[in-house]
Amino acid sequence: MTVSLRSSTCISRASVGHLFQRPKLAYDCSGSVSFPSRPHNLSFKYLEITRQVQLCRTSAMAKAESGIEEIGVDLSLSPRVNSVKPSKTVAITDQATALLQAGVPVIRLAAGEPDFDTPTPIAEAGINAIREGYTRYTPNAGTQELRSAICHKLKEENGLTYTPDQILVSNGAKQSILQALLAVCSPGDEVIIPAPFWVSYPEMARLADATPVILPTRISDNFLLDPKLLRSKLSDKSRLLILCSPSNPTGSVYPKELLEEIAEMVAKHPRLLVLSDEMYEHIIYSPATHTSFASLPGMWERTLTVNGFSKAFAMTGWRLGYLAGPKHFVSACNKIQSQFTSGASSISQKAGVAALGLGYAGGEEVSKMVKAFRERRDFLIKSFGEMQGVKMSEPQGAFYLFIDLSSYYGTKAEGFGAIEDSESLCRYLLDEGQVALVPGDAFGDDSCVRISYAASLTTLQAAVERIKNALAALRSAVPV
Ligand SMILES: Cc1ncc(COP(=O)(O)O)c(C=O)c1O
Repeated sequence: MTVSLRSSTCISRASVGHLFQRPKLAYDCSGSVSFPSRPHNLSFKYLEITRQVQLCRTSAMAKAESGIEEIGVDLSLSPRVNSVKPSKTVAITDQATALLQAGVPVIRLAAGEPDFDTPTPIAEAGINAIREGYTRYTPNAGTQELRSAICHKLKEENGLTYTPDQILVSNGAKQSILQALLAVCSPGDEVIIPAPFWVSYPEMARLADATPVILPTRISDNFLLDPKLLRSKLSDKSRLLILCSPSNPTGSVYPKELLEEIAEMVAKHPRLLVLSDEMYEHIIYSPATHTSFASLPGMWERTLTVNGFSKAFAMTGWRLGYLAGPKHFVSACNKIQSQFTSGASSISQKAGVAALGLGYAGGEEVSKMVKAFRERRDFLIKSFGEMQGVKMSEPQGAFYLFIDLSSYYGTKAEGFGAIEDSESLCRYLLDEGQVALVPGDAFGDDSCVRISYAASLTTLQAAVERIKNALAALRSAVPV
């Protein structure tokens, strides 16, 4: 497909869509994302400015790239890219940021990122690493110092025994997960993913030429996987089961007994491995407790444990995560990484050592943040519990509330249009309430929306008020 960059970027003002629609070229080329366009134009008050800015940028980008006004370029992409959906969490966060930059006082509760700064001892370790010239490539798998510290942590906190050659440090846990999928999946393999799921799992499975098999869960079961459903879906094609506890987006924590039941089922399928995503391990609210899947009888040999520093240590920008597992699989991931990104940042690895040196489960620094998250969770549970038409399951960990607002579907808002699903509801809440949430559809459950409570109590109070008012307007529009 050869198109003229110039002609594809010259979009008339009249043809520009609504808030969530970006210029076609920006969507195609940059990997930026948008919600699907709608035939009718919705009244998004503030986005005209943002859209115009984006259009100019896109046009400028195309010109800068080509250097001439008209150029023919083959814009076709690999089928691999075309099979992957872009991340809606990133999309809505970008859009909320664009609105803010355009002067709209949006409250952003869409991002999966702690609002705290990286604790000082960790930041200092990074600064010292630079000062001391610790700025060169490290071994591909990560420094011996960091991998030993990770082994120590896994032993002390998770009851798991690993040696440093069974650990692979990467540029964030996202990389660890993708590499694990690339390493173990063959075309035709199935990756079993309970829904609601973290947005990237199905797309990563597709990138690895595998087929995601989504297993729905119920809010009444606290979004926990029903072992009977799992049993009915397992076959010789099942290669990987992905578990995430505490969960993004639901905050559910798998009790040990349920994990044991799942483990019994897994043990009956020799080809089946488990990827246990334990990113939110430390952000957990007692009496809930965390169990590492690999610690269950017979599971060490077939479990790939993923963890990282982004969430518990407020280190999202440091890009540091890791995989622990049997050497055979970890070495395969290591090989992929060696031809892909090489080792993680030397500076971040020094900071990672300092993070693990803070004490059991991150010590006082982490427990301060967890305490704040808990207060916020309690506030939201109470506030939404008092609202009409809201169904919830109390999260036991992470910093998300995944609430069912589907009772508002089928309503209409004056000057906006129909609320049909989680996406239109989130667009409405952004337009009317100026609060950015993520549609549950992105996580495989369209009845819900995800609220990230990685924001101060004051911010959350304001957000709840706005959501309440916006929903109240819908309620009154419901035909009785
Ligand atoms: C469940 C889960 N796993 C993995 C990741 C990846 O984290 P990072 O790449 O920042 O280490 C995230 C980030 O949002 C997550 O929510």
